[in-house]
Amino acid sequence: MAYDNILVETNGRVGVITLNRPKALNALNAALITELGAALDGFEQDAGIGCIVLTGSDRAFAAGADIKEMQALSFPATYVDDFITSWERLSRCRKPVIAAVAGYALGGGCEIAMMCDIILAADNARFGQPEIQLGIMPGAGGSQRLTRAIGKAKAMEMTLTGRTLTAEEADRYGLVSRVVPLAELKDEAMKIAGTIAGLSLASAMMTKESVNRAFESSLAEGIRFERRLFQALFATADQKEGMAAFAAKRSASFTNN
Ligand code: CAA
Repeated sequence: MAYDNILVETNGRVGVITLNRPKALNALNAALITELGAALDGFEQDAGIGCIVLTGSDRAFAAGADIKEMQALSFPATYVDDFITSWERLSRCRKPVIAAVAGYALGGGCEIAMMCDIILAADNARFGQPEIQLGIMPGAGGSQRLTRAIGKAKAMEMTLTGRTLTAEEADRYGLVSRVVPLAELKDEAMKIAGTIAGLSLASAMMTKESVNRAFESSLAEGIRFERRLFQALFATADQKEGMAAFAAKRSASFTNN
């Protein structure tokens, strides 16, 4: 598939998707979301890909849903087309996804970053849910994922006023895993992704599934879920290899079996 709104490339076992609508600060229009879904489908079906990096430009990860495209929408149209539900494709990706965020991550931009598993922020990153300033509210999970990430008080202030967070605040509040200098963002994201992609794929995917389960279950239920996945990994060749390599003081070579 040819893409007009994103760039798609691979680097070893890492798949990289770059949002690429520079004139609109990577505003997320319908065409871009369709392309993002197709790129994720491709990487998920490719056994040679172990981790995905989602990024934008130095100025903007994404400045939100495309306001000009949304402007004329009516309630019946949004309801009948179930507007925004297709964005959830990213949150259903079973392989680990790292968001490498520089510049603006606003509205839908912040929401798609939060659908990823790790958010690595450049020091110029700005996170916000300014939808209220447009007479709407977050619609791609922002009121839920932001609240789970940083707690009610901070999420309420952000969503009710539209205040944006600096990268340093986002780090302090637990929204991002780390802040790095802008010039190092892409290299650092590739380094993390390369590490994950070099490990056992089943083990990485089950780890992701288990951490995400923490948001959807009681503690006892989540721990039972974790235990079953943990036990299942003893059926893999990668478990034998990982532990044999440790005992032999050599590095492991995983085959994803
Ligand atoms: N949709 C459509 N176009 C956008 C856009 C968006 N979300 N954000 C920026 N653009 C466009 C601008 O219209 C402008 O286009 P033109 O050159 O054709 O005028 C171009 O990108 C550059 O933007 P600015 O000139 O505004 O750049 P700036 O540096 O002065 O400001 C900004 C940057 C603060 C990010 C500002 O563009 C802005 O506030 N953007 C909108 C942010 C926003 O409200 N996002 C939430 C959208 S709603 C949403 O996402 C709903 C949801 O939950 C899914």
